[in-house]
Amino acid sequence: MNPKDLLADLGRRAALGGGEERLRRQREAGKLTARERIDLLFDPGTFEEIDKFVTHRCRDFGMATQVVPGDGVVCGHGRVNGRLAYAFAQDFTVFGGSLSETNAAKIVKIMDLAVKMGAPVIGLNDSGGARIQEGVVSLGGYADIFLRNTLASGVVPQISAIMGPCAGGAVYSPAITDFTIMVKSTSYMFVTGPDVIRTVTHEQVTKEELGGAMTHNERSGIAHFAVDDDHECLLLIRELLSFMPNNNLDDPPRADCADPLDRADQALDTIVPEAPQQAYDMTDVVRAVVDEGYLLEVHEHFARNILVGFARLAGRPVGVVANQPAHLAGTLDIDASVKGARFVRFCDAFNIPLVTFEDVPGFLPGTRQEYGGIIRHGAKLLYAFAEATVPKLTVITRKAYGGAYCVMSSKHIRTDVNYAWPTAEIAVMGAEGAVNILYRRELETAADPAAARAAKVAEYRQKFANPHVAAERGFIDEVIQPRETRAKLIGALAALETKRDRNPPKKHGNIPL
Ligand code: HXC
Repeated sequence: MNPKDLLADLGRRAALGGGEERLRRQREAGKLTARERIDLLFDPGTFEEIDKFVTHRCRDFGMATQVVPGDGVVCGHGRVNGRLAYAFAQDFTVFGGSLSETNAAKIVKIMDLAVKMGAPVIGLNDSGGARIQEGVVSLGGYADIFLRNTLASGVVPQISAIMGPCAGGAVYSPAITDFTIMVKSTSYMFVTGPDVIRTVTHEQVTKEELGGAMTHNERSGIAHFAVDDDHECLLLIRELLSFMPNNNLDDPPRADCADPLDRADQALDTIVPEAPQQAYDMTDVVRAVVDEGYLLEVHEHFARNILVGFARLAGRPVGVVANQPAHLAGTLDIDASVKGARFVRFCDAFNIPLVTFEDVPGFLPGTRQEYGGIIRHGAKLLYAFAEATVPKLTVITRKAYGGAYCVMSSKHIRTDVNYAWPTAEIAVMGAEGAVNILYRRELETAADPAAARAAKVAEYRQKFANPHVAAERGFIDEVIQPRETRAKLIGALAALETKRDRNPPKKHGNIPL
């Protein structure tokens, strides 16, 4: 074959992956092919493939005759919303998308390039794990990728889409990356599958129950997003990238903002109920404040007592962290602390300002939480907020009680601007609990204990259930009317645009893991 025909033949074979029959099966399973996924991820016509003709070197198990150009992974770079990004897409039609030595080397190559250029890495995972025929060189390939994931962490954003099986050690690369998206019904992640579990622990569990999209979105918190199909997954990656800079030295991209900067939403003035125990939905508050009412919630299904996500203020991306009184009264528990901490650290690493909305009655009490290590996990959120040097703004809408007051981006841990609504209650604990501790003996002997208790509760609430004591101390910069919140936050963000803050030089901190 002359060189021109040879190249054309290689190109045809690369495009065909594992062959017509396997491509048909891929589509029948409701999945797009690796190349179709790449086409949807990147701006049209911008993708440049790298190492299209690389092949595996395995000569055992009859592999010498089964050679597919590209070896089961499509790698390269292109533009997403006009900005450079690198991606790999595993091709399940070629040896089940399994990771070979050369296949790993291709992924490593684009990861190294991405770090050098300061551009995000997107992994489209659809793979049976280590290529069994290759043994340890395949395992080594995984370890090479894990090292890159770790070194790139905090330097360029890394996003993992799980678009098929993801088993064994293969789950650890996504686990190190910043965001994991799972496609419902067609993807799953686990370290050991149902068969091994049945043998070892005699538990019966399906693949879906063990590692399906909702399992990891609701229960384990491994995944940050669940989507209905491949199309939605790839559009979501594009959207997610629109909130973040390409690397840790850049600022996040600004969008145009048609929403008036001084828009005052009157509904906010009455959103906090009169009764202190009554719930309201914090997403309503966030949406009333941010541009176009748009919040891209991250980890929406996990630890719903805290909500985190991306939004914009005057076109500037911000990371929103908010207690959610509509779920577990907005208390902080283990899962909420870990969820919040990871998000705060992502935003801090990538220069995304943090806006905190606070209504928290404290840490969730109970033996499950204490035995589970709420002290250690709660400390993660405290540590994350304290070490963050991006612009930090806090709005206390109602409760800011106890240790949770300190944790939720308080003035004391270097928050730049702290606002409180007139409904804010900043205290060591709620009135009932405080009165029980302070006046137990007195109330027991009172002629009318109920009336005496009510009087003490009223006295306590008058003293502490307001933002004024904190404002007198300067722990709150200003008590603002709820309807002004948008304008105030936008003004504060503009003033913080040139913020410079540094932590002491060190190798790295020791966050309580
Ligand atoms: C080589 C593999 C493969 C693998 C699948 N195939 N996994 N080839 N190495 N790891 C091949 C199959 O032989 C088959 O080839 C094709 O891919 C499709 O696989 P099927 O089994 O027909 O598909 P399906 O029924 O959809 O099942 C998919 C699957 C299953 C659940 C992923 O294939 C599976 O369980 N594979 C093994 C998973 C696994 O244990 N991997 C190792 C994990 S340990 P043909 O020719 O028939 O199309 C690991 C260690 C990493 O990854 C360590 C890092 C620290």
